[in-house]
Amino acid sequence: MEFNVGIIGCGSITKYRHAPEYKANSHVDEIIFYDRNPERAQSLANEFNGRTAKSVEELLQDPSIIAISDCSSNEVHHIHTTKALLNGKHVLVEKPIAVSSEYAEEILEAERKSGKKLMVDHNQRFTKAHQKAKEIIAKKELGEVLTFKTSFGHEGPEKWGITKSNATWFFKKNRSRYGVAGDLGIHKIDLIHFLLDDEIEDVQAFHGALDKVDEHGDSIEVCDNVVSILKTKKGRLGTASFSWTYYGKEDNATTIYCQKGVIKIYHDGLDPLVVEMNDRTIIKYDVEQIQTNDNQTNSGVIDAFIDCIINDKTPPVTGQEALASLKVIESMLGENVIRN
Ligand SMILES: NC(=O)c1ccc[n+]([C@@H]2O[C@H](COP(=O)([O-])OP(=O)(O)OC[C@H]3O[C@@H](n4cnc5c(N)ncnc54)[C@H](O)[C@@H]3O)[C@@H](O)[C@H]2O)c1
Repeated sequence: MEFNVGIIGCGSITKYRHAPEYKANSHVDEIIFYDRNPERAQSLANEFNGRTAKSVEELLQDPSIIAISDCSSNEVHHIHTTKALLNGKHVLVEKPIAVSSEYAEEILEAERKSGKKLMVDHNQRFTKAHQKAKEIIAKKELGEVLTFKTSFGHEGPEKWGITKSNATWFFKKNRSRYGVAGDLGIHKIDLIHFLLDDEIEDVQAFHGALDKVDEHGDSIEVCDNVVSILKTKKGRLGTASFSWTYYGKEDNATTIYCQKGVIKIYHDGLDPLVVEMNDRTIIKYDVEQIQTNDNQTNSGVIDAFIDCIINDKTPPVTGQEALASLKVIESMLGENVIRN
């Protein structure tokens, strides 16, 4: 089975992940690109041997397109993704699913009405070390999980986004909404939910704009750092830190403390996945390193999205799960209290 796919938004995530991964998938014939900046769409169409659409409507009315990636900036996800679903397309939307839980609910309503697949790109679930860690935890090889620590930080999105400038939408409240919490934090909240098969039910956090400045040299409107303490429904306690001001190497480390040992994932200077048993035995797993801004390998997300379309499976990251993580982020920033 071969079909075409459309991509809305032709910035960095499309260039480095969605377009190359669709190109590598044998079920995808052609990629049709749309961006409100037509030069960006044309440039990717040239690079990936595809074509461009002049509007979202043209993309959505093209019967050869079965599935859409919504890779636009956060503030328009609910508009594009809802339209695409209601026009009969399967959708993979970038994280965060939307810039409010109310908008996320609109997307979920469109998913129900359309009967199409909706998947959200919480790609941390797909890395080999995270998958293996989940298996160890699920099999209770180390007994019960007691506590956890997770962090995600790098030097900031002004070096990543297509504009490569401090005028980036990531720094604007009306476009990114949640700053580093919605950019990096939501990945780790989703990861903790996934690894622990549990959900965060209570959050306390400090957040602030400590160092980043916009194009005018003024402090940015959204947070560039968050430190938080978390409690899950099953009673696990944890901490999480998210930062756009870790100016050294990217930090993607997670530690899970269990009754019989400790799982260390992506700790700098260690193998990607290390288990330290209580008797001091150390097990190193031979799994690949995580994708970083400087190390782009196949995330597996596009293959999983195509697989759930072709084989009529539930997407591996559902809209409902993405909404649960979004609510934790809103709670962290004091914008909403998690309601279960
Ligand atoms: N899953 C991940 O690991 C990951 C990593 C980075 C970014 N993202 C997410 O991907 C999305 C895009 O981020 P990016 O890094 O590619 O940003 P970017 O700034 O590099 O690119 C965004 C593109 O979207 C286009 N766009 C914005 N509004 C549009 C509209 N209304 N219609 C059409 N095109 C529009 C812009 O012109 C730009 O080309 C964001 O939601 C971001 O949070 C996810």
